[in-house]
Amino acid sequence: MTIGMTLTMFLLEEQRRHPDSSGSFTALFSDLVVAAKLISREVNKAGLIDIIGATGETNIQGEEVQKLDELANATLIKAMEHGGHLAGMASEEMDDVISIDGKYPKGGYLLLFDPLDGSSNIDVNVSVGTIFSILKCAPGHDCTVKDFLQQGVKQVAAGYILYGSSTMFVYTTGHGVHGFTLDPSVGEFLLSHENIKTPERGKIYSINEGNTRHWLSGTQKYVDSLKAREGVSARYVGSLVCDFHRNLLKGGVFLYPGDKKFADGKLRLLYEANPLSFIIEQAGGSASTGDQRILEVQPTKLHQRVPLIIGSKLDVEEACKWWKGEGK
Ligand code: AHG
Ligand code: MN
Ligand code: MN
Repeated sequence: MTIGMTLTMFLLEEQRRHPDSSGSFTALFSDLVVAAKLISREVNKAGLIDIIGATGETNIQGEEVQKLDELANATLIKAMEHGGHLAGMASEEMDDVISIDGKYPKGGYLLLFDPLDGSSNIDVNVSVGTIFSILKCAPGHDCTVKDFLQQGVKQVAAGYILYGSSTMFVYTTGHGVHGFTLDPSVGEFLLSHENIKTPERGKIYSINEGNTRHWLSGTQKYVDSLKAREGVSARYVGSLVCDFHRNLLKGGVFLYPGDKKFADGKLRLLYEANPLSFIIEQAGGSASTGDQRILEVQPTKLHQRVPLIIGSKLDVEEACKWWKGEGK
């Protein structure tokens, strides 16, 4: 009877390819896997216990905080703070950086995360996700916001967990993109999508057409050109992780561009755009603000927003041409 390759085994095999590694990264990732399983359990029973619905508070983004956001946030912090691998954390749900309690040792990694992405979809049983990004910093010192303001090219790992019809853990450390599916009967993530590559061009575009009245002309012209094309479909779930994951596997382009109302769009650079851009480039696709490669944007604020065009290489290239007024 084969149990298949678990995420833990895969991580250990990857660690063995770096004989000089301390094992701290693997241990950090294992803590993250535990957090993913705990959040998956809560998300999958949200309808059954009283954590559906909002807390009545709003987060730094000015958005209503859903209870599962808070629970996912607390679960990640609790699962990650004691391991001794982190110098600090940053969360979409927390205004400032999260320093490691003095009773735990500090390590040389920084973890940034969107604990629950697509939270407006929680109450209607549409898939949501967790997105994370891992950076390095000088070990052992009390990190400040400045330590987190690193370009996306500096990420040592990035990934997401998708709480969908099955729970999937997808990540990269710069050696390809690998997907694991949770087998709840074993409680293990098993390798299901090794070395994911995204098609060079897709037939799906994802954008919130409810914002059409705010679009700049480049966006309008690009979407119009897509609508004139045979076989192109619009797919938009409203959970970034869902839309991204579908387009990653099938090909296509997701756009949350800057517009007349929000010049920087809606999505956050450090814990949404950067991690997914690392993944898409490792899978052969690309990610741009429309004007520059996402991974080269120099962050200036922890929660800064950035326009995002991400997906199949040729689709992103074409969207950027239209964005810059070079489309035809
Ligand atoms: P979050 O729930 O973490 O705030 O993220 C929501 C984001 C993203 O998941 C999704 O792509 C986008 O909001 C949808 O925004 P619109 O509803 O404005 O289209
Ligand atoms: Mn999000
Ligand atoms: Mn969120």
